[in-house]
This record gives sequence, C-alpha cells and structure tokens, in this order.
Amino acid sequence: MLAYVLRRYGRPEGSLLMEVPTPTLRPRDILVDVRAAGLNPVDFKFRQGKLRVIHRSRLPLVLGNEFAGEVVAVGDEVKRFSVGDRVFARVEKDRLGAFAERAAVGEDCAARVPPNLDFAAAAGVPLAALTALQALRDELGLKPEHKVFISGGAGGVGTFAIQIAKWLGAHVTTTASKRGEAMVRSLGADEVIDYTTDDLSRIGKDFDAGLDLIGGETLDKMFKIMKPETKIVSVAAELVVQPLEQAARGIPLGAPAAHQRPAVDAGGHVADDVRLHGGLLVNAVPCDPSSPCGMRSPYF
Ligand SMILES: NC(=O)c1ccc[n+]([C@@H]2O[C@H](COP(=O)([O-])OP(=O)(O)OC[C@H]3O[C@@H](n4cnc5c(N)ncnc54)[C@H](OP(=O)(O)O)[C@@H]3O)[C@@H](O)[C@H]2O)c1
Repeated sequence: MLAYVLRRYGRPEGSLLMEVPTPTLRPRDILVDVRAAGLNPVDFKFRQGKLRVIHRSRLPLVLGNEFAGEVVAVGDEVKRFSVGDRVFARVEKDRLGAFAERAAVGEDCAARVPPNLDFAAAAGVPLAALTALQALRDELGLKPEHKVFISGGAGGVGTFAIQIAKWLGAHVTTTASKRGEAMVRSLGADEVIDYTTDDLSRIGKDFDAGLDLIGGETLDKMFKIMKPETKIVSVAAELVVQPLEQAARGIPLGAPAAHQRPAVDAGGHVADDVRLHGGLLVNAVPCDPSSPCGMRSPYF
C-alpha cells in the first residue's frame, strides 16, 4: 500500500510517499480502508522533530494521527466493530499511521462516524475534539457558571472547545480576528475579543479557567486575567529542554520568557505539570498570584 513515511526528522524532504507493507492486526485492532486523514499542527511539529523529547519513535514510520474510513478486517478479540462499519479514529500516539491507504488501530481508539458526516469532515474531528474535551472537562474540570477564557477560538481546537465549554454550561470568552468573529459567535461564544485590536489585559481578572491554543505572548497575558488559584491548560506553550540541561552542566541560566516551560530534565524525565494525557500534551499551569508571572516553577 502507499503511505507517507517519515524517514528523517527535519525538512519535508525527509518524508516520502512510498510503498510499505499493510499493517498487521493485533487481536483488538481493526484494519481500516482510509478515505480521509486529518492534518494538524502536531503533524509538522512531529516531522520537524520538535516532539522527540516526549515521543521517542523509531524511524522510519508512517505519519498521521487521525483518519476516517471503512473497516475491512477485524482482530480476533474485536467486539465493537464489523467489516463495513464507517469509523473515525485518533490513532495511538506511539503508533501513528493515518497517512496511508490502510491503517490499523485499537478498537478503543475508534468510533462510528455519525450518518450526517462524510469521511472528509469526520477525519478532522478526533484529535481536535478530544484535545478540547480532555482539556476542558478532565484537566480544567469546567463547571456550569464558570467563566472560561479560550485563546484562538476560530481554529481547529477552538471551534470544538467553544461548543464543549457551552455544553458544560460555562460562560465563554474567546479571541478571534474579524474574519472569525461571526463563526465563533454562531458556535456559542458569549464574548469575543479581537486579538488584532483589543488589549487582553483590559477585560478584567475574573476567569475561573483558561485554555490556551496560541502560546507565546498570548499565554503570558492570560496569566493576568485569571482569578487567583485557577488553572490554565496550554496545548501551544513552548516547551524548553535547554535550561534543565544547562543547569545539569552547571551553566548559569538566563531568564526564560514566562511562556517557556521547562519540560524535560537532562535525564529525559517529563516535568510533573507537563503530561501526555490521551491525545494531547497538557501543560497545566496553576496561576500563583505570589509569583510575578503567575507560574509555579523553580526557574521563576
Ligand atoms: N489541532 C489539534 O488537534 C491539536 C491538538 C493538540 C494541540 N494542538 C495545538 O494547539 C494549537 C492550535 O491548534 P489548532 O489546530 O487549533 O490551530 P489552527 O486551526 O491553525 O488555529 C489557530 C487559530 O489561531 C488564531 N490566531 C492566530 N494568531 C493568533 C494570536 N496572536 N492571538 C489569538 N489568536 C490567534 C487564528 O484565528 P483567526 O482565524 O481568528 O485569525 C486561527 O484560527 C497549536 O499549537 C497546536 O499544536 C492542536
């Protein structure tokens, strides 16, 4: 079968469309004829090698995190699916393989495609929607009446996050440029901040939860609008390995920007507040009002 294979981290030339064997099935796997696959920022970050500190994959491997298609074979112990089912899936993180004519995935990672979605639309759902669901429900514990701030509401994750936050009963404030404003309002956003013209620091300091999808300065500013003792989950924050490696070698540390997070120490251990949770990299940062930038970390 044809598949898009990562042979070397770095530039696009390190990946190639080529013939590879069809994946073999484990007892609880389904084999799917892939009709569409979703492309997300994580795919180019992975290809560039930026996730190597947390995903130690052996190359070559078939890229791709999510797909939709039709089941063509099932393993001996599969209970939920049969040949012919229309499914979509977020593949296991240590397996990938969605950018291929056929993909194998554990049945627990797949679900039936609702009848009103075609394969192309369905393939764009699993990763972004799971990211939003896990961040808002599981990591932030969003409750009815909570005020949540979501940066980047008009993007792939943001459009799901707005709808899920409203479903959980929260009041939603999000950022979008002029072109995205009508869409985020149609999804349920109660307040929309135009990040190209409005200053975030002027919108008060009364948010109960934050979901950051932009990182950088946007995340820095979000610390200033949260209530004390609340939490921001960022899936876009910059993770830095360097400071801990430097510290281990006795090299003096410069002051990292507030949005940079020590993620992995010199021994390769992921920091306590940076976790891989389901499909997403969670960087859950308690907002500590006693620290100037609002972050709890030995480096601030
Ligand atoms: N997609 C996933 O499944 C997934 C999973 C885990 C983590 N992540 C991470 O989450 C982040 C967002 O991913 P995504 O797929 O949602 O990206 P995306 O679809 O490219 O959306 C990004 C959105 O950000 C907005 N934006 C750009 N610059 C901004 C700024 N300075 N301030 C506020 N908003 C700005 C744009 O809004 P306008 O259209 O309004 O200009 C755009 O719609 C990435 O870092 C990604 O790696 C994504």
